[in-house]
Amino acid sequence: MAATADRVLISSERIQQKVLEMAAQIDADYKDGPIYLISILKGAFIFVADLARALKRPSVRIEFMGISSYSREKTSSGQVKVTRDLDVNIEGCDVLIVEDIVDSGVTLSYLRRLLEQRKPKSLEIATLLDKPERRIQPVNVKYVGFRIPDEFVVGYGLDYAEDYRNLSDIRVLSQLPSSPNPE
Ligand code: PRP
Repeated sequence: MAATADRVLISSERIQQKVLEMAAQIDADYKDGPIYLISILKGAFIFVADLARALKRPSVRIEFMGISSYSREKTSSGQVKVTRDLDVNIEGCDVLIVEDIVDSGVTLSYLRRLLEQRKPKSLEIATLLDKPERRIQPVNVKYVGFRIPDEFVVGYGLDYAEDYRNLSDIRVLSQLPSSPNPE
């Protein structure tokens, strides 16, 4: 059975408005100096691009990390792996991890512990989406765009078997096959 993504959960207009609000709050909270946005590949690539452009401060450094915890399943396997590490030293820096979604919390609680060891001046998390019902590991997330129900969502960077990342809104995937197609 083919998966479809017909139902819009969050429109592109609502996303853009929320990104502006989140950026304004971040600008207000970080008074001086550079801020490092650490975007977690791949899902956060669109969110970080919009968030970075909505920030008014001149010094926004954009870095990327690859973390994998899902393999081909649609629920967290609990296995976390760094697939691409930072190539900058964040010691003494204001660091904001930028995620598309927090689900079980496994990825972010692992990442927070990992980055804390590198002694940043501050370390916070911004996520566009949060599914609190799915949390297995508690994680302190300072900036949350939308709290959403436990439905499988795609678009605005989020994928299903690598498809749908390019949608400009967030949609609910229905008629999921029992397992994703091999990539
Ligand atoms: C997603 C998402 C987060 C993580 C959240 O990434 O981008 O990194 O899962 O899930 P958790 O809270 O259950 O740990 P995914 O592994 O699907 O990779 P992708 O961003 O490359 O699609």
